[in-house]
This record gives sequence, C-alpha cells and structure tokens, in this order.
Amino acid sequence: GAAELGPYRHYMQKEIFEQPRAVADTLEGIAGIVPELFGDGAHRVFREIDSVLILACGTSYYSGCTAKYWLEGIAKIPTQVEIASEYRYRESVPNPNTLVVTISQSGETADTLAALRHAQGLGMDKTLTICNVATSAMVRECRLAYITRAGVEIGVASTKAFTTQLAGLFLLTLVLAQAKGRLSDAEEAAHLKAMRHLPAALAAVLALEPQVISWAEDFAGKEHALFLGRGLHYPIALEGALKLKEITYIHAEAYAAGELKHGPLALVTSEMPVVTVAPNDALLEKLKSNMQEVRARGGVLYVLADADTRIESGDGLHVIRMPEHYGPLSPLLHVVPLQLLAYHTACARGTDVDKPRNLAKSVTVE
Ligand code: G6P
Repeated sequence: GAAELGPYRHYMQKEIFEQPRAVADTLEGIAGIVPELFGDGAHRVFREIDSVLILACGTSYYSGCTAKYWLEGIAKIPTQVEIASEYRYRESVPNPNTLVVTISQSGETADTLAALRHAQGLGMDKTLTICNVATSAMVRECRLAYITRAGVEIGVASTKAFTTQLAGLFLLTLVLAQAKGRLSDAEEAAHLKAMRHLPAALAAVLALEPQVISWAEDFAGKEHALFLGRGLHYPIALEGALKLKEITYIHAEAYAAGELKHGPLALVTSEMPVVTVAPNDALLEKLKSNMQEVRARGGVLYVLADADTRIESGDGLHVIRMPEHYGPLSPLLHVVPLQLLAYHTACARGTDVDKPRNLAKSVTVE
C-alpha cells in the first residue's frame, strides 16, 4: 500500500533506492572469506570442483554472465553460463566435478528448477544456489546456498535482487579463489575492503539521479535504443537494455562495443540513442569516431563513463561520470544509473512501472 511506499512513487523506485541497504544486509557479518558462508561441507565441494556452470533466466542470467568474468579472471576457474531453458533441452557434456550454480530471485522459476534437475540427472550433484528466498524449492533442492538479503522484491523488473546476487557471486569468486590457493592475504583484504565500501558507493551513484532524469527526457520520445559495453560491462549493457524494454516498451538491444561496426551501426540515427557503459578514454575515442560516421544522421551517445576519464559532454555526446573507480565491483555500480534511466523513462511515458504488460514477477510454469 501507499504507506509501505513511503516517499516513493513506485516499488521499483523504492527498490532501486534500497540497494545500499540490501547489499549491506547481504554482506553483513562477513569477517573473512570462508567456504562455510555457502553452507555446511562447502569446503569439500569447493576443493573437488574444477569448473563452474551457471544456470538462470532473465536478469539473474545477466548476473551470472557478469560472474563469469570474475570467476575466470580472479579465481581462474573455467566458467560457463547458460540460459536455463536452453540447457535443459540440449545435449551437453556433463562433468561431475563442475559446480552447478543456479541464480534466482524467487527460487521458483520453472526453467531454472528444471535445468537444475536436468544437471542432477546427468550426475552433477555439486549444486549451489544464489537465491533471495530461503524457503524456496531452489534452496531445498541445492546442496549449498547463499541467501541474498534483498528483502521482498515487488517490482516485476528486478533491481535490488540483481545487485545482491552480484555481491553473493563476488563472494563466491573470492571463496573459490582462496580454495584454489589463488588469493593472497593482501588481495583478500583489498577485496573485502572494496565490498564493505559498496553501500556508500551505491549511495553516491544514486545521487546521480537528476542527471539520469535529464537523459530520460530524451529517451521518452524514442522507440529504439542501443546499449554497448565490453568485458565486465557487456552483461550490464544487456541488463540495461532489458530494463528499458521491460518497463518502457522501447525496443532496446545490447551489443559488445567492438561489434558496433559489425551491424548495429547501420541502424543508428537520431532516433536511436546509443548508451555506452563504462568506457575509458581510449574506447570512447573509438566509439566517437564510429559515431562520426553517422553524425550526419544524428547519432547521439549517452556515456556512463568511468571516474578516471577526461571526456566532457559535447555535441551529440552526453556524459555522466561515475563518482569513483570501482575495480572489479564496477558492474554493480554501473547498473544503477541504467535502472534509473529505465525507471524515469517509463514514468515519462506513463507505463505501468511495477506491473509491465505481459510479464510476471516469477515464471513458475513453462
Ligand atoms: C521473470 C522476472 C525477471 C526475473 C526472471 C527470473 O522474468 O520478471 O525479473 O529476472 O523472471 O526470475 P528469478 O526469480 O529466477 O530470478
């Protein structure tokens, strides 16, 4: 009801602004990197595994895609991420030493549960879920679990569940890195310090809202948008595009930035704004020269720039600079302005933000 919403107009807005608290709760009481954070006997499981297979749907799939960069980059563990509805129906090569990780806000998504059972049926019994509902089927059916503490999420478009999943997945990366002897004490201390700083960092990013609102005014009249990112931020571009299409009904696509010239550049006009996530100056120069080719047709860049860029807004170029450089936790911060962009664009278009047409909060039937 209205009382629960407090000062907010919609649950989605409230949930976006709850992220500092949700991430703080999710990481509360973590004094050190220990396997038992993921359940009893986790150290044995983690010692035995040689790879990770992540299964999820929707926004949870994109948190898995982000985690792949961490798991391979920091823990050096080969990682595959697969859409649950694809995995469950294809012939794959099972590896009993793979850690099967399902990611789910609800813990009841039919395809993700079926994918888990499919993996189990193939003899993969080292299972772990990152889940927001402790009493869910997913938690019951997985051997290990990490419960995110986002709290109840009401908006159909997932926000705080996503950032808390990322927090849990980053922790998993550190635990696995340590189990494999790939994390020095100094690295552990630095990562823990960065994690503890997340709530304050998220709050600083939320303060960018007025700048995002001015972008949303431009987006409200558009029917197409392109999101670009690379590396760790490619999944964030995908998530930004998903948020926009879910609640504004604007057609949005995401591409790895290097792919711009391999197709989507042909579509760019003044009617198709291009959002780029986290570029440094060098990448921005490349993107700008690409965009110059369509300048005559009015291509406009909306850039969420890293803190250490020097690029300034100019003709056809709108820059929001992030408050700080966040290192590997950067995706968790860069997604927030994209959530706000979708939210404020939806408000400007007058769509039903919390209950977008045709979509359900939890898809419990196939
Ligand atoms: C639905 C929701 C999405 C969510 C997806 C997966 O499509 O609208 O917000 O990301 O299901 O849900 P889960 O509960 O498994 O994370």
